[in-house]
This record gives sequence, C-alpha cells and structure tokens, in this order.
Amino acid sequence: MTLLLCSLLPLCASGAQGGNISLKITKQYLNFPVSHQQERSRMTFETEGAPDLSVVIRLAPEEADYWVFRDMSAFEGKTVRIAYEGDPRGLAKIYQSDRIAGQDSLYREKNRPQFHFTTRRGWINDPNGLVFHNGEYHLFYQHNPYERDWQNMHWGHAVSEDLVHWKELPDALCPDSLGTMYSGSAVIDYANTAGFNRDGKPALVAIYTAAGPERQVQCLAYSLDDGRTFTKYAGNPVIDSRDKWNSKDTRDPKVFWYAPAGHWVLVLNERDGHSIYTSADLKKWTYESHVTGFWECPELFELPVDGNPENKKWVMYGASGTYMLGSFDGRVFRPESGKYCYTTGSIYAAQTYTNIPAADGRRIQIGWGRISHPGMPFNGMMTLPTELTLRTTKDGVRLASTPIAELDRLFRPLAEWRGLTPDEANRKLEEFGKADRLRIRTTIELSHATDAGLSLDGQSIVAYDLNHNTLNGRFYSPQDPTSMRLTADIYLDRTSAEVFIDGGLYSYSMERRPQTGNNGGFRFRGNRIKVCSLEVFAVGSIW
Ligand code: FRU
Repeated sequence: MTLLLCSLLPLCASGAQGGNISLKITKQYLNFPVSHQQERSRMTFETEGAPDLSVVIRLAPEEADYWVFRDMSAFEGKTVRIAYEGDPRGLAKIYQSDRIAGQDSLYREKNRPQFHFTTRRGWINDPNGLVFHNGEYHLFYQHNPYERDWQNMHWGHAVSEDLVHWKELPDALCPDSLGTMYSGSAVIDYANTAGFNRDGKPALVAIYTAAGPERQVQCLAYSLDDGRTFTKYAGNPVIDSRDKWNSKDTRDPKVFWYAPAGHWVLVLNERDGHSIYTSADLKKWTYESHVTGFWECPELFELPVDGNPENKKWVMYGASGTYMLGSFDGRVFRPESGKYCYTTGSIYAAQTYTNIPAADGRRIQIGWGRISHPGMPFNGMMTLPTELTLRTTKDGVRLASTPIAELDRLFRPLAEWRGLTPDEANRKLEEFGKADRLRIRTTIELSHATDAGLSLDGQSIVAYDLNHNTLNGRFYSPQDPTSMRLTADIYLDRTSAEVFIDGGLYSYSMERRPQTGNNGGFRFRGNRIKVCSLEVFAVGSIW
C-alpha cells in the first residue's frame, strides 16, 4: 500500500461534502472502498490536467462492504487527480497496489460460480462484442466496475482460447462525453473498409451505443492490438436516430458482413423492434427496413436446417430470446413464422460470436445470466456457451441450444443407472446432495403425474405438469408425445441451475436457492414416474 498525497478540500462554498486527492501512479491498481450505506456521488478523474473519466460510486467513509478497483496500467508515472462530490473521508482510504483488494481469495470466494464466467468485481450484464480473432475468443460485457449494481456502463473484457477458461483484462471502453457504454458488437474489418487498419493488420472494430441523458447514439471504436486498447472514432456518432423514431430507445447494434452483397449489416433495436441498416465502410449507414415486436439486443444470423447447407433459414431474436425464422436479402428480413421461444428464465440479451472460422462453422452463443451471488462483491454471470442449431421437430423447424463440446472436459462421469423408481433414484443421489456443483442428466417417463420432476433442497429444478403440459410453469410438449419422456441435462453451479431439455430444444435457467431449512438433497417427485436413466458428473472449475 502506498500513501497518497491527499487534500480533503471542500469542492464548493456551500459547505457540501466533497474533496480531492492527487497521486502519481506507480502501481497497477487503485483500490476503492464501497459502502451501500452511502448515496452514489460523482467521482471524476483528471490526468495531467485533462478530463479522463467520470463515474458515480458509493465511497465508504468508514467500514467498507467490499472493495472495487480500477486498472491504472495505462497511467503509469502520470499524476491523476480524483475529485469526489460525496463524503470525502473515503478518499484517504483509496490505495495503490499491484494487487486488487481480496486478491488472495479471488475466484475461490464462497459464492463464486465455478464454471460460469463472472467478473472480479462489480456488476455485469449483456455480453458484448463477441468475436473470435487471432486464436482468442473475446468476451466484452456490460460492466459497472465500481459497484455490484447496474450503473456507469463500461465494456469489461475477458479472453479465452477455449471458451471454457477466461482471462480478465482491463475494461475496454469507458464512459465519455457522449455517454456510458451500452451494448454492441464487434467485427474484424479484413478489407479495411473503415480505413482503421495499420501495417496490414485488420482492425477489431467495436460498434456500441453511447447512452447520454437525452439520446442513445451508435458509435465506433477500433483496436489494432487484439482488443487490448481501443481508439474511439473521431466522427462518432455514426447513427443518431432519436428524432426519426421519436424515441430515446435506439441501441445495441449487432453488425456483420453480408458476403452476397459485399456490405455491412447493422441490426439496431429502435423503439418497438429491430431496424436494419447497411454500410460500405462502417461509418455511413443507410436505413433499410424494420421488424416490430422485439426489444433490446438484436441478433440476426443464418443457420442450416438439420445441418443441410442447401436448406438455410435466418433467425432473428431480441433480448428475451423469443425468435422468428425467415429469409434475409441483405436489406430486409421477411419473417415466415410467428414467434417461438427456445429459452427462458435467467438468460437475457444473449449474443452470438462473429468470425468463427468457416471450418468450425458453429453459431456459438453466450447470454447474460441474471443471477446474483449472496454476499459477493460481484453480481451477474454469463450463461454457458451454447451452440445454436435449427432442427426439424414434430412441430416444424425450431432453434435448439446445447452446451458446446469444449465444456465436456469439465465433466467427469461419476455414476450411471437405468430403470429406477423415484425412491431408488433418490437413494442413489443421496451422496451428491451436498455438492456445490454437479451435472445430472436424466430421462424420466411420465405417467399419471401432475407434478413430476426433480428438486434440490426443496427448490424445483424440473417440474412437469402432465395435465397442463407445463415445464416449470411454461407450456412444453415433450418430443415424444406417446411415451411422455423428457430428458433434462442439468448444470448446477454454486448459485445457478441451467437445464437443457430434449437435446436443447428448450432450456431454462434459474438462481439456485435452497428452501430455508430444507437440506433434503435431490428428490424425484411424481406418482408412477420412471427414472429411465440417470447420470451424474463431477464438474471441474474454470478458474
Ligand atoms: C439489455 C440492456 C441493453 C443496454 C444495456 C445497458 O440488458 O438494457 O439494451 O444496451 O442493457 O446496460
């Protein structure tokens, strides 16, 4: 810990709170104490006289609930002035170190998910800028580095070589004069259409929403060092459509290269649905069309049906995951179906990767898991990466989502049984009831059961009602309508459960919250159900 040059001066004559400190950056991190007893107050950073960053934070004047940090690597040797408009006593507690406060227990904290991505500190929501480049999968995400609740949107950043293990990097995009950094996507500009490339190196271009108090506008930032640092485009914003829509809700650009016409396509959520824009250079965009009935975080991509490259359909979805199938000519999406739903629960704002090598060809998705972790200095998580496919089902072509094959290395088979009664299955599972993480795959056959399924410590993980044909409260008709068999692949982490039904044709996720006082472990329920198969896997840690 290094001592700070500290002057707790009132910021204004009214006697209101506030003060500032100046310090020369000699270590990697600045650590800040946070207390939820405090109101949020503005903190501004100035580097060598120039404004740098302005955020709000609940700086703890006394005891901290937890600590957050800012990576200052880029400011090494420079003098930074930090002004705070709230209770100034916390300023004296800010300290520099090459370690973040709590580093010793990082990723081993009691309620830290062990095989889902979470951030070191603060709040996360939507995955952003999912792109594969130079052997790395980038996961940018909505991040509030200064608190475990939503605020101060930055783009957090992590990279992975296998989509299983992640390395966290400094935040990639910070709020600026246009606003905070809302959701968006990333592309690799191989043809240098935007002119950002240098020395034959293609730029990684992030297309994001800057959310100001009055308008949400679309902006570009580019990186020539594999996403480690970004330069914001001087001509920002590239789209400002507030007046056209008479709405502030214009956000979350998803961009991809449309090869048949040789142009960029940008799908943007505007007021009541998704608009499509096109561009030759990522900078000038032309409005083309609009599909109503979606909200936030658009996606649009093409998939083969049952793996047949001769039979493809386009999928459009919004943040909730309801989707439509249709055709797309580079300018207009024409739905050929009403809405379908393939996933529900905690997942929201899922995005798919761009630039996956053609030889791989998968459409890989990561969603925001709206899951909290009691008592932890971080909030939210990413759902397991899944592969999206279109499959012909008894009801027609539908979207399916299954955990990617790379995750298999995390699972070690522990036991497998066939043809059990619920009581027998419960006895088999007794020894696993205390596991903090586990994967269970089971096929059950329903018969005369209005409430059938599996619970853990009183919480329903699978609940099928054969009378109303609902699965955890949502209508779901099993694939085999005569046998009424249901297969559930259940991924239990410390604070969440993700369940994939019938090979991913339907999936849902939830917080893992045992009933108070109930430590009955796993319980199959249901009069005369058969547990046709039951497999249990140990799960490794990604940290
Ligand atoms: C979806 C969303 C986006 C927005 C972002 C802000 O969860 O509301 O529409 O860009 O979160 O954090």
